[in-house]
This record gives sequence, structure tokens and C-alpha cells, in this order.
Amino acid sequence: MFSYDDLLSDLRGLFDGERDAIANAANAAATIWQHLPDINWAGFYFLRRGELVLGPFQGKSACVRIAMGAGVCGTAAARRQTVVVPDVHAFPGHIACDSASNAEIVIPLIRNRRLLGVLDIDSPSVGRFAEPDRIGCEAIAALYLRSLDG
Ligand code: SME
Repeated sequence: MFSYDDLLSDLRGLFDGERDAIANAANAAATIWQHLPDINWAGFYFLRRGELVLGPFQGKSACVRIAMGAGVCGTAAARRQTVVVPDVHAFPGHIACDSASNAEIVIPLIRNRRLLGVLDIDSPSVGRFAEPDRIGCEAIAALYLRSLDG
């Protein structure tokens, strides 16, 4: 049975003693991919010179650059708020990277009031992400951000 607590505890072990932003993002994407049921993409975009640039991920190859305010990722980044989209086809401006994606959750990564990027997870199932997923995925993002402080 999947639990966010188990996933978070695995991540705590993987992050222990490691502060590297790319290494910890890579292990976070892999751990989400291994444990979170019914997803087809999990990964990071990092803010680089005002746009989101693809970081470590699991799933099909994805679009590399997303402008602030564009798509679900750019919207979450611009609003600095988690965006949960039950049906991406009903989200104006959604950027389709994998045609299998039907639902999406994007969590902004904010450290000391600075936007570092976003954590993005896609699912083939409409309505896949509910309130417990928002809480769980925000906890993953918070743990990742804390890992950068050592
Ligand atoms: N669907 C996202 C683009 C990134 S992929 O899902 C990996 C968006 O609309 O921002």
C-alpha cells in the first residue's frame, strides 16, 4: 500500500548528508516514480534566466524550456502556488509533452522567498490528484528544499 509517509522516509534516507541540488532532485524523481501509483511523469524544472528549464525526471522525454506563466508548470511558478489540474485538456495553455497525461500537479519550489523551480507530476487518470496528494507532494518539495541546506 502506498503512503506518502513511506515515500518521505525513503527520501530522508537518500538526502541524508547530501546537499547537491541535481543529485537530490534525481533521487526524488526516481523515488516518486517507483512508489507513487498511476503516474506517467515525475520530475523537476529549474528557473534559469527567467524561464523553467528541464531538470532530472522519470518518464518520457519532455519539453526543455517553459516560459513563466505558460502551461501548468509556468502557471504554478508565476503564482508561486501549487496547481492541481484534474483534466489537462480543460486547462488553457496546457503544454502536452506526453499524450498519455490527463491530470497534473505542479508544486513551486521556493527557498528563502526565491523561486528555484517546480516539481511536476503527471498521471494518465483524470482527477488523479486530490487534497492528500497536494499535501504529500508539497511535503516532498519541502523536504527536497530542506535537503539543500544540509
Ligand atoms: N504539462 C506541463 C509541461 C511539462 S510536462 O507535463 C512534463 C505544462 O503544461 O506545464
